[in-house]
Amino acid sequence: MHVLGIETSCDETGIAIYHTERGLLAHQLYSQVKLHADYGGVVPELASRDHVRKILPLIAAALKQAELKTTDLDGIAYTAGPGLVGALLVGACVGRSMAFGLGIPALGVHHMEGHLLAPMLEDDVPEFPFIALLVSGGHTQLVRVDGIGRYEMLGESIDDAAGEAFDKTAKLMGLDYPGGPRLAAMAATGRPQQYQFPRPMTDRPGLDFSFSGLKTHAANTIAANPSDPQTRADIARAFQDAVVDTLVIKCRRALEQTGLKRLVVAGGVSANVELREKLQQFAAKIGGKVYFPRPAFCTDNGAMIAYAGAQRLRAGELNDLSIITRPRWPLDQLASVSC
Ligand code: KG4
Ligand code: ZN
Repeated sequence: MHVLGIETSCDETGIAIYHTERGLLAHQLYSQVKLHADYGGVVPELASRDHVRKILPLIAAALKQAELKTTDLDGIAYTAGPGLVGALLVGACVGRSMAFGLGIPALGVHHMEGHLLAPMLEDDVPEFPFIALLVSGGHTQLVRVDGIGRYEMLGESIDDAAGEAFDKTAKLMGLDYPGGPRLAAMAATGRPQQYQFPRPMTDRPGLDFSFSGLKTHAANTIAANPSDPQTRADIARAFQDAVVDTLVIKCRRALEQTGLKRLVVAGGVSANVELREKLQQFAAKIGGKVYFPRPAFCTDNGAMIAYAGAQRLRAGELNDLSIITRPRWPLDQLASVSC
């Protein structure tokens, strides 16, 4: 089954074609980073308009890359939420109407389910059950995963997401949008333990997160210190170490609570090298294993939507002719799929 995946929930237009036996056949991505850079963040209306400009050329490019025609497609999966409603509507309208024209099923996919299943696109596929740490610009969640659509929310951020904290702290340091990767690059030249940042909510039981205090702590530390490059890098390092440590502590707790040994980490922040290294070290120590998507599939992409959609379409799931967008959509409301 050839499934076209369409991702337009935020500032990346991602298109991919996944075949249920042959795997990923094509993957195209256009990032709007330059478009939003002047504004210091994503401007929703500009994002929607740019998706309109890019979506059809990217679909054509993906079909060409896979050496397929539109009539070879068997289903279309588009991100239905969560995300920016205008941006989601572009992918939903194109996906739903293209499927209607071709007489094939269309399915609205949950963006975070896409992230959660992205490691399945790699050679070393995690077996169920596992714990998933989802760390993106909008979400920080710990989920027990017993199968596709069998998600139990164990904990989540009560305020800012980890990616959001990276982006806001980067902005305080005068770094351009999107700040997360830039702050991480700066932290690489920072010296450890020059500044002490808290590890929020690790001193009490539970698996929830809170990152907004770290941003405030960063603001105060920046204001109280000189602005030379080494000091800035040291602060970036202290901030990143605090986020990474906090995530590692909560992952350890989730594995201990559930008795599971497999951990999946996905979403934009899972591209962070420090986080990947620390989680790998920790997993090795407990005789467990951690699975990540390749860096290109940590951040938003069409491949994860094509994959998640393919699993559900293959199981017979499909939507009616409605164009579905759900800007807010709890992950644990999804139907389970028997594979
Ligand atoms: O998953 P994603 O592409 O979009 C959402 O669904 O939100 O995640 C984007 C987030 C941004 O906050 C970005 O700054 C962060 O992931 N990010 C990183 C890194 N790469 C992306 N944060 C820290 N270190 C990185 N290397
Ligand atoms: Zn995302």
